[in-house]
Amino acid sequence: MAAVGVAGAGYVGLTTAACLAGLGHDVTCAEVDQSKVDQLSRGEVALGEPDLAPLVRDGLAAGRLRFTPDPGALDGREFVFACVPTPAGPDGAADLGAVEAVLAALHPGPHTVLVVKSTVPVGTCARIAETAGIPVVSNPEFLREGHAVHDFRHPDRILLGGEEPAVARVAALYADLGAPVVRTDHASAELGKYASNAFLALKLSYVNLLARLCERTGADIDAVTRTMSLDERIGPHFLHPGPGWGGSCLPKDTSALVATGAAAGVDLTILRSAIEANDRQHDHVVARIRQAAGGRLDGVRIGLFGLTFKAGTHDLRDSPALAVAARLAAAGAVLTGYDPGVTGGDQAGPVQRVDDPVLAAKGARVLVVLTEWPEFGGLDWSQLAAVAEGDVVVDTRGVLDPAALRGSGLRCLRLGHPAGE
Ligand code: UDX
Repeated sequence: MAAVGVAGAGYVGLTTAACLAGLGHDVTCAEVDQSKVDQLSRGEVALGEPDLAPLVRDGLAAGRLRFTPDPGALDGREFVFACVPTPAGPDGAADLGAVEAVLAALHPGPHTVLVVKSTVPVGTCARIAETAGIPVVSNPEFLREGHAVHDFRHPDRILLGGEEPAVARVAALYADLGAPVVRTDHASAELGKYASNAFLALKLSYVNLLARLCERTGADIDAVTRTMSLDERIGPHFLHPGPGWGGSCLPKDTSALVATGAAAGVDLTILRSAIEANDRQHDHVVARIRQAAGGRLDGVRIGLFGLTFKAGTHDLRDSPALAVAARLAAAGAVLTGYDPGVTGGDQAGPVQRVDDPVLAAKGARVLVVLTEWPEFGGLDWSQLAAVAEGDVVVDTRGVLDPAALRGSGLRCLRLGHPAGE
């Protein structure tokens, strides 16, 4: 059992704190937001991460987990995890202000190891180790939103960068997980994280471009990706076309890696192309919606189903759904949106949010699915068809059954399939 400090209680920090406590360690989690500290200390978890709330409550009840606004409470702890945001700055490079604040507040003990879980540019951990004069281990996370506890407990790999014995000591924290451990230097661990996330983005941009090619050639994207997925070097994941990739990680990590490349004199053209293709994917979806609306959007009412960046989250950050909505609004469309993960009937940018899918469909010329919520397949599409003005659904996620919609009198347009199938 180790004495662990965690700085930050976002989905990464809170998952790390609760799961390490669940592994039997003693964890103090410092969070700057007092209201969040109060909520968490009562066992209230606002994040919709499955299994996280009971894990937090178990840790509190066992006395192995506590929350505080005071960074000084981490002083002297054997391991201090930095789990704070590193958002993209105006030039795309990662903003390290929050990491530096953790460091400034840190009063290490004789055995303290700083564990950097935040995604930081190559060279950051070595620089911190040099200036702080304490061992630093890079330990990037690979937690998907909506699957964070699962991914912590069943990681494909634990990635550790730094020097011995600090790396071995951090590896021991995770020993009970029985996962493969990659032990390497700081730079390789830092780059390994960016390289992994950026590759996922590359794969998605490629699939989205293939879907557009299918629409032009009459091929079926599902058959094409099925063919690809059976090649074990490609695999079945991240082959679903959509309105683009988003969220709090992939966009910032891809732009940060391009910035790292530029600073190092290596133009990551392939990654820049993937970012550009992602922006164009938003435009392509708008073009499909405009076509479905009869060629114009000005004054046209559109019903949006899905606003979050992906299903299973409440997260609107860098959501492709909102990128598409912004373009639709700029073209004069009138937008109403329903998302089961986002409650409250206020505005989300240009979208009038409603809590009832019928209100999203009411009077709409086109209905558009932008997030892959499974419950959209279970909606009463006959009722939605009855209140909609138009008879077409643009399903950018492929979660609906065109045959079932035809039964409701609706045409279903999907990415990667011929129009009007
Ligand atoms: C990602 C990485 O997966 C995770 O390893 C890292 O630690 C954090 O960033 P997350 O941001 O939760 O996780 O999103 P992810 O599940 O990767 O999806 C990213 C985007 O790609 C979403 O907008 C999602 O809708 C989209 N996506 C994903 C597709 O469009 N098609 C797919 O097949 C899969």
